[in-house]
Amino acid sequence: MVSELFDNIKVDRLSAGVINLWEIYLPNVTSYYDELYAILSLSEREQAGRFVFAQDRERFVLSHGLLRVLLGKYLSIAEHDLEFDVGAYGKPSLGANKFSINLQFNLSHSHDVACFAFTLDHAVGVDVEYMREDFAGSDIAKRYFSAQEYKQLVSLPQGAQKESFFKCWTRKEAFIKAIGKGLSFGLDKFDVELVADAGQLLTAVRGGDYDVADWSVFAVDVRAGYFGAVAGRSDSQLRICRF
Ligand SMILES: CC(C)(COP(=O)(O)OP(=O)(O)OC[C@H]1O[C@@H](n2cnc3c(N)ncnc32)[C@H](O)[C@@H]1OP(=O)(O)O)[C@@H](O)C(=O)NCCC(=O)NCCS
Repeated sequence: MVSELFDNIKVDRLSAGVINLWEIYLPNVTSYYDELYAILSLSEREQAGRFVFAQDRERFVLSHGLLRVLLGKYLSIAEHDLEFDVGAYGKPSLGANKFSINLQFNLSHSHDVACFAFTLDHAVGVDVEYMREDFAGSDIAKRYFSAQEYKQLVSLPQGAQKESFFKCWTRKEAFIKAIGKGLSFGLDKFDVELVADAGQLLTAVRGGDYDVADWSVFAVDVRAGYFGAVAGRSDSQLRICRF
């Protein structure tokens, strides 16, 4: 058991239609590295061992250990007893009918921040991105954003484009992570809002069996220098938890 950390993290009982979004600043939990490593599965430890850079390995271990701590709390089971299924496009889940509640989750990590989304009965996706100086650019936007999003982005004043680039990126990632299809679901098949932070941020879906009315994408107010978004059931309420 991740003793002290485990005691300090308090989770509320989840209720239908609520997404609990945890934002954890990894430097706050670095001192628990060994305990978090100890609750990882063999395959997670092998994955961690494949990172070339120690810092990437550390962030992976902390994020995946924290995921186990949080899931263990929501499900009231020992963290190291959790086993994950992996979807066709790589999305981890708890699999069907293993627990008394249908807990859906997703994780994202970037630089020093990890975000975890938990909800009941409906797919959920989360994305956090560190605002790297060399990342934003109209070439990338042209390649990955829909024609409508790209047009809107380049029409903004130069000074507003970088922020909107990250808003667009994280909102698109959150949606493709919620549906679990990753990039196999064409990024041009849906549009997100890239200026406003409130209201329905998923504005159109043109492909697959997805109806825009069934989904909500929310902006997540992550610490300075980061952008975040979460996607889930259309009438969800978002509860932010920080550690
Ligand atoms: C996983 C994926 C969907 C997102 O990756 P990412 O943004 O680099 O990484 P994140 O930290 O947000 O998420 C990674 C986590 O999501 C989960 N994940 C993996 N595949 C997933 C999938 N298909 N759907 C949802 N979640 C997935 C895993 O828990 C993973 O953790 P790990 O990498 O530590 O094992 C990636 O495969 C992908 O398709 N990236 C697209 C990148 C891109 O070009 N986006 C353009 C957006 S406009």
